[in-house]
Amino acid sequence: MTDLFDDASILRRTPVEALTVEQAAAELEALAREIAHHDELYHQKDQPEISDAEYDTLVRRNNAIEGRYPELRRADSPSLRVGSAPAAGFGKVRHALPMLSLGNAFAPEDAREFVARIRRFLGLAEDAAVEFVAEPKIDGLSCSLRYEDGRLVLAATRGDGAEGEDVTANVRTIRDVPHRLPAPYPAVLEVRGEVYMNRDDFLEMNRARADKGEPLFANPRNAAAGSLRQLDPKITAGRPLRFFGYALGELSEPIADTQSGVRRRLEGWGFQLNHPTECCRGADELLRHYERIGRERSALPFDIDGVVYKVDSLELQQRLGFVSRAPRWAIAHKFPAEKAQTRLKGITIQVGRTGALTPVAELEDITVGGVVVSRATLHNEDEIARKDVRVGDLVVVQRAGDVIPQIVGAVLEQRPEGTEPYRFPDHCPVCGSLAVREPDEAVRRCTGGLICAAQAKERLRHFVSRDAFDIEGLGEKIIEEFWDDELIRSPADIFTLQEREEAGTIRILGRPGWKEKSVQNLFAAIRQRRDGIELQRVIFALGIRHVGEVTAKSLARHYTTMENWIERMIEAGHAMPGEAWRDLHELNGVGPTTAATILAWFADPESAAKLDFYSGNDSLRLETVIASLGIKRLNVRAAQALAQRYGTLESWRATMTAAVAQAPGPAWLELVAVPDVGEVAAEEVASFFLEERNLTVVRDLAARLNVLPAEAPKAVSSPVAGKTVVFTGTLETMTRAEAKARAEALGAKVAGSVSAKTDYVVAGADAGSKAAKAQELGVTILTEQAWHELVGG
Ligand code: IVH
Repeated sequence: MTDLFDDASILRRTPVEALTVEQAAAELEALAREIAHHDELYHQKDQPEISDAEYDTLVRRNNAIEGRYPELRRADSPSLRVGSAPAAGFGKVRHALPMLSLGNAFAPEDAREFVARIRRFLGLAEDAAVEFVAEPKIDGLSCSLRYEDGRLVLAATRGDGAEGEDVTANVRTIRDVPHRLPAPYPAVLEVRGEVYMNRDDFLEMNRARADKGEPLFANPRNAAAGSLRQLDPKITAGRPLRFFGYALGELSEPIADTQSGVRRRLEGWGFQLNHPTECCRGADELLRHYERIGRERSALPFDIDGVVYKVDSLELQQRLGFVSRAPRWAIAHKFPAEKAQTRLKGITIQVGRTGALTPVAELEDITVGGVVVSRATLHNEDEIARKDVRVGDLVVVQRAGDVIPQIVGAVLEQRPEGTEPYRFPDHCPVCGSLAVREPDEAVRRCTGGLICAAQAKERLRHFVSRDAFDIEGLGEKIIEEFWDDELIRSPADIFTLQEREEAGTIRILGRPGWKEKSVQNLFAAIRQRRDGIELQRVIFALGIRHVGEVTAKSLARHYTTMENWIERMIEAGHAMPGEAWRDLHELNGVGPTTAATILAWFADPESAAKLDFYSGNDSLRLETVIASLGIKRLNVRAAQALAQRYGTLESWRATMTAAVAQAPGPAWLELVAVPDVGEVAAEEVASFFLEERNLTVVRDLAARLNVLPAEAPKAVSSPVAGKTVVFTGTLETMTRAEAKARAEALGAKVAGSVSAKTDYVVAGADAGSKAAKAQELGVTILTEQAWHELVGG
């Protein structure tokens, strides 16, 4: 192999700074081949030819060259692969169509509102008939089966909805899954459904495991998940897994017009369906079926946790579309949680990553819905007070699905004598700092910040959690131990562990459970992350409040590189709007346009004289003065609101003058416009970057890591992508909501008013001033028909 990669080895001697573009490109190509070769030897053949350290050198060299010449990064670059090596053993699969989840309904009103919402969205009369299918909801694992020319070619788990794991070999062992379909079938067919286990099979399997002294599964769902995710398909084959089909993914041609039609086709191909299922017209019938399934629930062979309602017509499903990750055309109506009673032995307080104190109920062990529960959440101090739950009480515990068990309340009739109302601590039980509550918050937080061990530990734990750095061998327990022994006190410390171990300043080797091999494995796992980590993981790992996985991903996609993100966040921090500006914008009765004209008026130097004229004149009411200044678009209602809020002309003037200077800057406006980033999250992120010590942590990390640039969001290709559209007048073929949702799905921006920036005005019947304005500005005006033609029907 030496001769094969000879050229790369020669070039590698040239310092990166001295490489010409041509040399860099040639070397990157050679490195890509060489590293891919070693990956294959290591991962597939288990026969590495070079040491980990040598492999590392290659990867670092590759990354250094890419750092110098980012534009030369190849599509097959190792830096895009490292970090997602099949550590878990399953290949990753990108779903042809995303696998979505369902919104939940808990009460009958939620189900009625679901039906009403659909009618409203489609512009149907309140009593118009809409047909639904109601199917039981089994709590298993969703799975997508892909058939090409009638043969099963791929089975994938849901994963994060966009990307799942390739579990084809395991799914082939499930008896309910046909390997070949009887003709006729479409060339491409994706069947989506649930892998699950029957209750009896689950109990039987657990009994057998108990006999062999093997650990038991908590419930059928966990058992199904654990069985499907076995690396050895032979193990899966021995587990009683089942499958039912309930939906479709990618299709090369339509197979039916309705969900009930889809079910019939699936049955014809040999799939099992989930029963009892019924066609229902409207909410009353849906709720009747829900009650019926609820009564028959315990007689079903499998556990179900609700009923899924789906609009039957696929055409309507298409029109209804999706809101974030769930369809508008379906909902899961959940059954009430299972409940049980037990004794509350005590209340302990957990301190979270953001300092929140969470009360935890310590319970006498109790089985709820087949799972042994010994702790449950009590949410916060108001909840405890409201429910008046006291230590010693008999309490009702409930558990719904996978959710953390909760305390519903105390059984007051059986309250023992001598109990006392619980007093929530006002100091952090871990660091002793004062714990305070913001006026509008339910949680009490420890003010210890960095000095609070609990918060620091939780932050680190979050840092290495599954959706963050996910470092194998550095789980919760180890992080805690390393923190206690001062091996790791901040995220950056993780990346100096090896250096410090080799220099002898710390000793991991020889600690209980740490042998040469495990230490080396840990270092390798850390290096793997260091040498190629996705930006979204780094952002999520920082643990900024309100920045979950989805927001982190959005930020990463928008800002693409770590450096750019940091710079823009610092700018956003300085570009946040000030108190006075916000105050004006939050005032009821003053909309954003009026707020803007008010501030524009104050920014105009000529306005000062007008204000001087009125100041000191007490005979006029403030609202009259405000209304007579000639500020555009300022109506009486706004004048009243302003007068009431600011009291005197002087105070209003001072606040508005301050507000003019406090208007948000472009970096802030850009941040709040990023999809999935609301004002609240934006504020948390921007303030995070205003804190010097946070910035130090982030910069430290950035210096140590090779953060992979994120893929920019896929541009939607449609004739209206990036265009600004205004809908006006009475639309006939769709409601406003539907028109807006469709236009946005096609990448257009929908605005409420016409300006020079508007690209199209879609005018329905009786279009008034907006159409006139469009004409005046020369904006293209489309009829509804023309709009449909433009976007392709
Ligand atoms: S339909 C676009 N039907 O529930 C939505 N899902 O909570 C496609 N599930 O991820 C899902 N029974 O794993 C559908 N009869 C049923 C179902 C069902 C169980 C699961 C599925 C989904 C989850 C959402």
